[in-house]
Amino acid sequence: MKLIAGNSNKALAEQVSSYLNIPVTQAKVKRFADMEVFVEIMENVRGEDCFFLQSTSYPANDHLMELLIAIDALKRGSAKRITAVLPYFGYARQDRKTGGRTPISAKLVANLITAAGADRVLTMELHAGQIQGFFDIPVDNLIVAPVFVPQIQDKFKGEKLCIVSPDVGGVVRARALAKRLNADLAIIDKRREEAGMSEVMNVIGDVKDMVCILVDDIVDSGGTLCNAASALKENGAKEVHSYVVHGVLSGGAVARVAASPMESLVVTDSIAATESVKSAHNIEVLSVSSLIGEAIRRTSEERSISALFR
Ligand code: R5P
Repeated sequence: MKLIAGNSNKALAEQVSSYLNIPVTQAKVKRFADMEVFVEIMENVRGEDCFFLQSTSYPANDHLMELLIAIDALKRGSAKRITAVLPYFGYARQDRKTGGRTPISAKLVANLITAAGADRVLTMELHAGQIQGFFDIPVDNLIVAPVFVPQIQDKFKGEKLCIVSPDVGGVVRARALAKRLNADLAIIDKRREEAGMSEVMNVIGDVKDMVCILVDDIVDSGGTLCNAASALKENGAKEVHSYVVHGVLSGGAVARVAASPMESLVVTDSIAATESVKSAHNIEVLSVSSLIGEAIRRTSEERSISALFR
């Protein structure tokens, strides 16, 4: 088995390599003077079961090209099997036509990864589970519950917990977590009553005096979570905490989260944390390296991955 990594998340690759007790295979992933991507795998991969780890996070297009070119290099190096390990699959939010003459970019990216030569995909908490069907190769979509649940149980022992989806689209994820935690469920329904009026946040469910945990797949600008946190506080929530899988945290998101009524935000290291994320007083990063490492091991040994989530 070989573990190879692009430039997007070297820290996670190192941790996965420690979990698997194998080194990260030496590879050059660099730029020509005109910024074209060049990849050279520095070790023999002929006949090897290869796992290329790359999150297609910011800068998404560069990281995507690194991924595609590395898969091509592995294929031409006669790897036996290539698994694209994508802790964060970017472009996932463009998963349907939102209007006339708009793309379905998630499908295009799936086609590109397949055409490059990947045999399998191992990813985590896809924005929409149906994206698995955009690929005609096997996709394993890990869920982060084994990482989030023990921490929530420990941190909020004895509290009246309510798991909250910040929008209607996230209800399935929130309900699954509420079930594992034996907690209540609430949903925030954003509605614009009249054109030109600002959005009204209706909280569906009773959150009064509860410790509310907002769960989502992505925090990008932070707007969704911060608005949801304000609505929950206005409805009497005792505390608001957020657990989000992918900390995209673009632009002024870290400052927005710091200034919000949210007590804390927990994200995973599916995307490498920036310095501002690391130094933020109310953001914590939990590692998914063991989860990803174990899924890689099980893929390599042809063992069940779903057994990890029972
Ligand atoms: C949307 O459907 C996603 O699940 C997230 O809620 C969204 O991407 C968060 O974006 P932002 O942080 O910019 O509000």
